[in-house]
Amino acid sequence: MPRKTENVGPRPPTVGVVGLGYMGLASAAAFARHGVSVTGYDVLPERRATVRSGSSPFHEEGLGELVRSEIQSGRLRVADTLAELADQSTIIFLCLPTPPLPTGRIDLRPIRAGAEELGRALARVNGFRLVVIKSTVVPGTAQTVNAPVVAKASGKGPAQVAVASNPEFLAEGRMVADALRPDRIVVGVSDPRSEQLLRSLYAAFDAPLIVVTPAGAEMTKYAANSFLALKISFANEVSRFSERVGVDIDDVVRGFGSDPRIGEQFLKAGPGFGGSCFSKDVRAFVRAAKDQGVRLRLSEQVVAANDEQTRHAAELIRGELPRGRGAKVAFLGLAFKEGTDDLRESRALPIVREIAGEGVAVRAHDPVALPKFRDWLSKEPAGLQARVSTWATTAEALTGADAAVLQAPWPEYLAWPKAWTARMRQPVIVDLRRAFPTARAHAAGIRLVRLGDGTSMRPAALSTPPTRSPGQNAPRSAGN
Ligand code: UGA
Repeated sequence: MPRKTENVGPRPPTVGVVGLGYMGLASAAAFARHGVSVTGYDVLPERRATVRSGSSPFHEEGLGELVRSEIQSGRLRVADTLAELADQSTIIFLCLPTPPLPTGRIDLRPIRAGAEELGRALARVNGFRLVVIKSTVVPGTAQTVNAPVVAKASGKGPAQVAVASNPEFLAEGRMVADALRPDRIVVGVSDPRSEQLLRSLYAAFDAPLIVVTPAGAEMTKYAANSFLALKISFANEVSRFSERVGVDIDDVVRGFGSDPRIGEQFLKAGPGFGGSCFSKDVRAFVRAAKDQGVRLRLSEQVVAANDEQTRHAAELIRGELPRGRGAKVAFLGLAFKEGTDDLRESRALPIVREIAGEGVAVRAHDPVALPKFRDWLSKEPAGLQARVSTWATTAEALTGADAAVLQAPWPEYLAWPKAWTARMRQPVIVDLRRAFPTARAHAAGIRLVRLGDGTSMRPAALSTPPTRSPGQNAPRSAGN
């Protein structure tokens, strides 16, 4: 059944989306839901086929449903060629990957190649086209890379083709909601016509539109992600200190985050941030500034602080395991956060590497990320593969474990039936996300060890920092 559109205004310009990855597909489907006629294209034929059949190639909350309804409504279509897309769309978004290079810079080849191929397709099109870069690119890219590449390949001047920037702020697991109802829209334009087109496209969205230059929009995206990463790393640092001196980090965050100038969001202590964006973007931000002779000393430290937090998470797990060989850990949640099957930069990977590398048997489980985890594991050294096993159910992963590590707090883990506790050799949950309910831990008879929570440590902790070696843990009460 075609869905009712959220759009009520005049007909918006037609849209093309080049690159149907997580972000491209969520954006395309959201435009369609707002009443825009959208043509998508991806270089991968199987991805085109999946989307055309009304499904999402990714595990992302609500995305499959949205794609299905928008394909059925006819507002979202998939083209087999860029020429077809270029012909049907006035505003064309490039949603292509910008993978990191070993130098920290981003690899602009996919963006450059996409712009060139699109430019060639535009050569055969009549009428004005606006090419908009949605991918995260360093300030200046739209104007110094994309604009000349599109102009050269299309042979067209500014009267026929313009380039703009419109970064996305979609977080995985919330992409559909973020795409349908953004809290702000940032567009970077260099001419009134482009601004007018983007204003009419976004007229149906109930969000403030911030109009800046293309480089300003590109800078905004890096500043946003770097600041969010900084907030998390700051909370993680305070949480390590809190843990050591017997303070609960959540109490502290409530106290200082309730200052509206600071805000409580993105101050949740954990094993360090993961995901395809933060680490890559902060490195690229630092690198791009350095290339311009500017040192971003705070951002330089953000990644180092994150790595330290991940090492600390491994240390916390180690502290709960028996001495010697033969220790077993159930590792629950493998993706970089719950609600996604995305393993990119997941903190689970370095932690599993570290503890399995020390001889611990890791029994891994995730409700949706196991296929990707098995794929990752298959490329690891044989020694590591021998120590890591994957299990289809949580109960199996817990069998004989000396501790359960909660890395991504899926609801099924938090519901923890008592029978799971009985399967373990030692009933301990190391909660790296501070998500496991204390009452459930009591009810299920399991001891809870929470990152960033030293409240159960000996009072002497304040004068003598606790030194914990494997098997010699500070006493903790059940469900502390
Ligand atoms: C992030 C940003 O939140 C989006 O606004 C942005 O559009 C996106 O990157 C992008 O550049 O494409 P994402 O990486 O999907 O989104 O996920 P987040 O929810 O931001 O989480 C990133 C990592 O930080 C996760 O590992 C998460 O568990 C961790 N995190 C987040 C914390 O440890 N503490 C927090 O308080 C929040």
